[in-house]
Amino acid sequence: MAEPHLKPTLRIVDEGADGVDRAFRADVLAGLSQRQKAVPARWFYDERGSQLFEDITRLAEYYPTRAETQILAARGAEFAALTGKGRAVVEFGSGSSVKTPHLLRAIAPAAYVPIDISGDFLRESAASLAADFPGLPVLPVEADFTKKVALPSQLAGSPMLGFFPGSTIGNLVPSSAVDLLRSMRETLGEGSQLLIGMDRIKDPAILIAAYDDPEGVTAAFNLNLLSRINRELDGDIPVEQFAHHALWNDQLARIEMHLVAQRNVAFEVAGQRFAMRSGQTIHTENSHKYDPRSATMLLVASGWTPLAEWQDDDARFGLVLAEASEPRSAP
Ligand code: TRP
Repeated sequence: MAEPHLKPTLRIVDEGADGVDRAFRADVLAGLSQRQKAVPARWFYDERGSQLFEDITRLAEYYPTRAETQILAARGAEFAALTGKGRAVVEFGSGSSVKTPHLLRAIAPAAYVPIDISGDFLRESAASLAADFPGLPVLPVEADFTKKVALPSQLAGSPMLGFFPGSTIGNLVPSSAVDLLRSMRETLGEGSQLLIGMDRIKDPAILIAAYDDPEGVTAAFNLNLLSRINRELDGDIPVEQFAHHALWNDQLARIEMHLVAQRNVAFEVAGQRFAMRSGQTIHTENSHKYDPRSATMLLVASGWTPLAEWQDDDARFGLVLAEASEPRSAP
């Protein structure tokens, strides 16, 4: 099987001595014990989950990947005018860096620093990107970018441009999104800029179709989480008794993905019993959407001042360039 192209970014791995991933077990047991059951979205991405995610990005209904790539390919000269030459591009959760070449070609960077939690994958894709950009220093950093990351010492003095595509910021609730954006600002330092993908609020029918395609790829992706729990955490969840459900939460401006019990079910995971009534759900994902003002508010609340926003031709997706706010620029 080919390596997945687009690796999701919000994953932290803590392999226990007993071979069971302790963080996975702790998250699942805690999440299934809540009144509204929930499992953090980062656990979607086992090998099959990563493959299904790549399939999602190629669906006709899943517009964000194509829309963002279109902006990156078309607006390079405008990015370059605002970033200037010689910035070090620091990509958060770089995965296979498929969108990056467009940006690197546009802005004549001093270096490229992909940061990812998955070391093997990181080194492979860094090597293949370096081969395409001879002369560009490529300095991969294996790290959890939800905390401040120490950047390679060669970069001291270069201005930084953070790159965070995919609207991955929307997978975090606003308070966590602010924490992440603030720690990116700490990582990148004074005078830095950030180019961030932020999917737009739009007709709910378009949004829901992107997360509930007629071929059932997104459903398979969501349900795969239950198969993973059964396999890795010694569970007996009746997967066929659950259905994928994507809904638009208008108040919170987000798509939610749930797994809905189709009848009363009882099951065991890692030696603990759980029961769910018919219609009860496990909440597995949020994908927040933004309008220009809510995007600005999120960035400003996190120490970033927006400089420009670009959209694709259908105005479905936004790429925002922001600069690190001056610490004492406000009264
Ligand atoms: N961050 C993207 C989004 O919210 C990609 C993504 C994460 C995704 N989890 C997903 C897409 C689940 C579809 C289904 O759109």
